[in-house]
Amino acid sequence: MNIILIGSGGREHAMAAKIIESRLTDRLFIIPGNAGTAELGENIPLDPSDFQQLANFATEQGVEMIIPGSEKQLTEGIHDFFSDNEKTKHIKIIGPRKAGALLESSKSFSKIFMQKYNIPTARSISITKKNIEAGFLFLNEVSPPYVLKADGPAAGKGVLILDNLYDAQQSLKEMLAGKFGQASEKVVLEEFMEGIELSVFIFTDGNQYIILPEAKDYKRIGEHDTGLNTGGMGAVSPVPFANADFKNKIEEQIIKPTLKGLQAENIPYIGFIFFGLMNTDGNPKVIEYNVRMGDPESEVVFPRILSDIVAMYDAATTKSLDRYFLETNPQTATTIMLVSGGYPEHFEIGKEIKELDKISESIAFHAGTQETNGRIYTHGGRVLALTSFADTLEEALNKSLRSAQIIDFEGKYFRRDIGLDLK
Ligand code: AMP
Ligand code: GLY
Repeated sequence: MNIILIGSGGREHAMAAKIIESRLTDRLFIIPGNAGTAELGENIPLDPSDFQQLANFATEQGVEMIIPGSEKQLTEGIHDFFSDNEKTKHIKIIGPRKAGALLESSKSFSKIFMQKYNIPTARSISITKKNIEAGFLFLNEVSPPYVLKADGPAAGKGVLILDNLYDAQQSLKEMLAGKFGQASEKVVLEEFMEGIELSVFIFTDGNQYIILPEAKDYKRIGEHDTGLNTGGMGAVSPVPFANADFKNKIEEQIIKPTLKGLQAENIPYIGFIFFGLMNTDGNPKVIEYNVRMGDPESEVVFPRILSDIVAMYDAATTKSLDRYFLETNPQTATTIMLVSGGYPEHFEIGKEIKELDKISESIAFHAGTQETNGRIYTHGGRVLALTSFADTLEEALNKSLRSAQIIDFEGKYFRRDIGLDLK
């Protein structure tokens, strides 16, 4: 079948690599794609949020499946648009409708959902201008640090973690007054959870589900988790502390109740659910839901999958996931993200990337790259994810590190400590 994959990051490059391995794939279009995906399929320079244009293209090309990589188009209602239109409803959208995407697009929705279905998470309260006093009371009650979250999408910047009560009170006022625009007209205040984070992914048809390999990502720019938050500086899969007992708790206390909750709310769901979890003394708690795969987690999760991924997507559309067997590579995968100097603040793009062809120990997934006249240039903050496999975490990391040293572009920066805290 002909397939459209939407996105242009390392996640989509890693997804595309699996899609073209499938016996079910005829043509793969990546909209808009990057220099890496151009080698696997056809990059198409369309705006994926222009659903009518996308529908015209999909119909012309006989596309049967669309896989949105990020939450953006899901939140904008791509599934509803295609499925509710006679001409396009035969096209399978691998992601939830707008109603399911609320798990990610509204923090207050997801917190109320978790509370209602007894899913372990931090205690929280939803605040608007009308009940700001309740917000101040909550801040007085909990101990620092204080966690404040804009309800809606705020380009990854909507979460503040503050040590000082006065700062938290001021920030609450500023957020409600429009610090993040509409996104913070409602603010979720949360108790801080102490622990180590991990990312767990399922692929589901709303009833049956496949648990994908778990991963840990490293969000801070600096080594030993210091400095500003980024889109992700590296990832590891599997995660050593996610042992059988811990995973069983995740499945029983979090995955199953989440699916039950969606059913009880009459929210049909197809696609990924990404559980951002905190391991608090051996007990998993949900930090947040996402309705897509993670990035850079995808760059270690997808390469570990050995079975046919399109067959998995297809099985969900015919409610036959129970007959799908996910085969995974038991080795450890690590990925190190090469980023542009200055990221996540000011950085320059358009630097030529050299020595890509010298990489032999890792897979180079393109995140922010662009090809011009046969040369490859940086085109974003996160540039390349270098994924390696080995029997041990240390060996895999060393391969990724050697590759990171070989690639050359002006301003290149990467973290050398990805996964070392897990040893
Ligand atoms: P979120 O966008 O909700 O995932 O929050 C961004 C990041 O803030 C998370 O990945 C965590 O590192 C941190 N965080 C969010 N909520 C909490 C919490 N209640 N306790 C501790 N850390 C949190
Ligand atoms: N790596 C975290 C995310 O994709 O949101």
